[in-house]
Amino acid sequence: MAKTIKAFFFSMCVFAVIFLTLFDAEACRPFGSYAFLEDKEGGIWFTEGDNNAISRMLPDGSVKSYPVPTEGAEPADLALDGDGNIWFVEMYGNKVGRLSNDGKITEYPIPTHHAHPVKIAVDSKGSVWFTEADSKIGRLKDGKIIEYPLKDGWPTSVAVDADGNLWVSSLVPSKDQTEQSKSTGKVGILLKNGKWKDVLKRNGSCPMNLTADPKGGVWFSDKCRGTIERIDGKGRPVVFHIGRDGFVQDMSIDKEGNAWFADRMRNRIGRISSGGDIYELKLPADNGGPFAITMTKKGDLYFSEILNYNINRRTKEGAFEEHIVVVDKRQGERKTVEGETCFIEYAARIAKKAEIEAERLEELKKMRLKEPGDGYSTLVENRCTLCHDLKRILLSRKTDWAYTVDRMGDYLTARGVPLMKDEEKAAITGYLNAYYSIKTGALQKR
Ligand code: HEC
Repeated sequence: MAKTIKAFFFSMCVFAVIFLTLFDAEACRPFGSYAFLEDKEGGIWFTEGDNNAISRMLPDGSVKSYPVPTEGAEPADLALDGDGNIWFVEMYGNKVGRLSNDGKITEYPIPTHHAHPVKIAVDSKGSVWFTEADSKIGRLKDGKIIEYPLKDGWPTSVAVDADGNLWVSSLVPSKDQTEQSKSTGKVGILLKNGKWKDVLKRNGSCPMNLTADPKGGVWFSDKCRGTIERIDGKGRPVVFHIGRDGFVQDMSIDKEGNAWFADRMRNRIGRISSGGDIYELKLPADNGGPFAITMTKKGDLYFSEILNYNINRRTKEGAFEEHIVVVDKRQGERKTVEGETCFIEYAARIAKKAEIEAERLEELKKMRLKEPGDGYSTLVENRCTLCHDLKRILLSRKTDWAYTVDRMGDYLTARGVPLMKDEEKAAITGYLNAYYSIKTGALQKR
């Protein structure tokens, strides 16, 4: 084993040298953003992964970016407080950030190692709440972070309802089964005294995407049940069946109470009307994987696509516009990284899109990893499909997999399964970086 690993690393080094000669820049992913937020003035805020920024877009596609001070922070979700500050969680930076009105960013480190915060919400009293993968909910108030452990499982989303209650959805994996669809899903409230109140607790459930509506209800999606559900102000659930073949990546509730959702797996945008009817919009000849979604006060729908580094809009009148962020306009704020500017990569990436998508689609159909013949794909399949299937990997793009592999190792500890050895971790990271790194899709320098 050790020998093969050495050989593997040697070939990786050769690979890396060729790689760096061809693309001596960091990947600069401008789009494919994880979350949107509309501010009071109608600006659309979004997170930028590899560009490592929190950015504000105007309807004409012009963008102003605020770089996150921590390198490789992966800002994941956004929330707005009563004073107009933008709050965000840094998935990989392990911090909570605040962008204040004067454009200054302050970061607050999370006490738990690898907390991997994914979702954030702010209540009317100014407390900032966020999920921690390590079975906790964090609360930031007056610069201090307090952590509330869950009874069991890990949190998948947080939301504050119209009455100020903090809702949390969570997932408790089953002990004997590895399939996520057999887990127990819970939706509950963290009470003011720090105790938990379960509102729903069901087997074969995996709730996520908690989103409050203006009428006092909260919505969420449940991939395992193939549903989108709403709990009204009195705690009564209403269930909408959308099918198990979809995956609701994000939701947004408009002021009339319509629920809009991005179905990443079926490449659709959906709407559940306040009357309970379900509408779907199939996206034009594309499999970009709609990701973040938001319905603006004006009635325009914005959504990002994870396999298509972009932001699109469907106007109130039904006009569909792709690529609304003007790449040329970004030249004014281009960032030069080791001799290359990010905007060149933006345009190049978009051009390369069709090719990458076709390749990914093939892999997804087969649900197998690339097999270069060195046996590492089998190692990755064996180690990485214990808790979820390969889609997680096939649909992910990362600049560096080391962080994710490391975090997955922590989960193994939590589940009491034999740990990955360091050399296995290194081999898995090496394989994923070689074949599933964001750089693989990058283009040659001009
Ligand atoms: C012990 C269970 C477990 C194992 C084994 C596991 N994962 Fe995960 N994985 C999770 C959980 C739980 C999540 C969702 C929470 C999160 O994202 O932290 C997740 C999420 C992910 C994600 C999406 C989040 C992200 O960081 O992009 C990717 C990609 C992923 N896993 C890859 C892998 C790879 C690669 C391996 C093999 C090294 C692996 N997983 C092994 C439990 C596991």
